[in-house]
Amino acid sequence: MKPRVLAVDDDERNLSLLSAKLEREGYEVTSARNGIEALAKVRQNPPDLILMDVMMPQMDGYEALRQLKSREETRYIPVIMLTGRTEIEDKVLGFEVGAEDYINKPYSLQEVAARVKSLLRMRALQTRLRDTEKMAALGGMVDGIAHEIRNPLTAIGGMARRLFEGETDPQHKEYAQWIIKSVERLERMLQRIDEYKRILSSTLAPGDINKVIGGAVKEIEELIEVKGKDIKVLKLLMPDPPVVKLDYGNFKSALYNILQNSVEAIDNKGEIRVETLPSPDSVLVIRITDTGGGISPDEIRKIFNPFQSSKFEGAGLGLTITYRIVIDHGGDIEVESKKGEGTTVTIKLHPVPAR
Ligand SMILES: Nc1ncnc2c1ncn2[C@@H]1O[C@H](COP(=O)(O)OP(=O)(O)OP(=O)(O)O)[C@@H](O)[C@H]1O
Ligand SMILES: [Mg+2]
Repeated sequence: MKPRVLAVDDDERNLSLLSAKLEREGYEVTSARNGIEALAKVRQNPPDLILMDVMMPQMDGYEALRQLKSREETRYIPVIMLTGRTEIEDKVLGFEVGAEDYINKPYSLQEVAARVKSLLRMRALQTRLRDTEKMAALGGMVDGIAHEIRNPLTAIGGMARRLFEGETDPQHKEYAQWIIKSVERLERMLQRIDEYKRILSSTLAPGDINKVIGGAVKEIEELIEVKGKDIKVLKLLMPDPPVVKLDYGNFKSALYNILQNSVEAIDNKGEIRVETLPSPDSVLVIRITDTGGGISPDEIRKIFNPFQSSKFEGAGLGLTITYRIVIDHGGDIEVESKKGEGTTVTIKLHPVPAR
């Protein structure tokens, strides 16, 4: 989307030269002929930046500026004042009322365009910084809540287990079982929140993909054992795969989360295949195929979204985490599936160029 600039000047010629220049520079320009019109235009459609002449009939630039800066909705729109009066007091007045910049007439269009560009860039950086700070504050709060929940949850789970063991009434046993399952679900959510925090930064170094796959498969075989399922994991790996840049721990988590979904999708007996394949454009392809229950097209569309889960115990964050890790590795990930037949997850990674 083009940045929107509102140019305000009572001089038609100035206005059209300014508009034409800014349009050539890639901005969407609207114009106003005095302060009153400018305020109305801002209310209708707030611009990203305002260029404001000072001497105008009806309402001058300073009054319009004062009104803009006194309202919360318009206070953060940067304003550059354009004036023919060069007295120092005017500049001071402009800055006091809150103009972000000041350009003397006669000005060069080139200079105006350059200042517009730099002010918009600064504003974009400030917005990004504010968003990052907001996210960090939110992240801190989520962390705090997760921390506070952990201990009471452990207590609830422990007590429910004791009740379950000591209980003889089948109905009460079932109630205790429900509490235990619900606690396990919340504990999985807390683990995922921890994991999400851990993987937020990937440190990449040239690495051997077969080693990472080997690590993830070993861990998943332990899970299969714990779950008591009859699942065969087949590794079909290229002997000399191209070297890719990896964060070993994070990429192993990404693969583990995919494999964990496969294990959970297979009712009791089945097969998971992990392959590495070369491709014509020399991209490294990692393919994980299972013979599980599959996914409907409707679910596939939302599969990487946070908290999308079809499982009672699922946090719906496994693939959100995987997606983030793959993107941080400069790769792509794709899921194909047929309900009742199985699922294939394909990751593509770009190899380190040969010297
Ligand atoms: N191999 C698969 N076979 C069938 N369904 C799958 C498969 N992989 C993912 N899904 C579907 O996608 C959903 C989202 O997966 P994701 O791993 O993000 O969350 P989850 O497994 O539900 O919870 P968790 O955060 O604990 O991993 C799952 O709930 C499941 O419905
Ligand atoms: Mg999962």
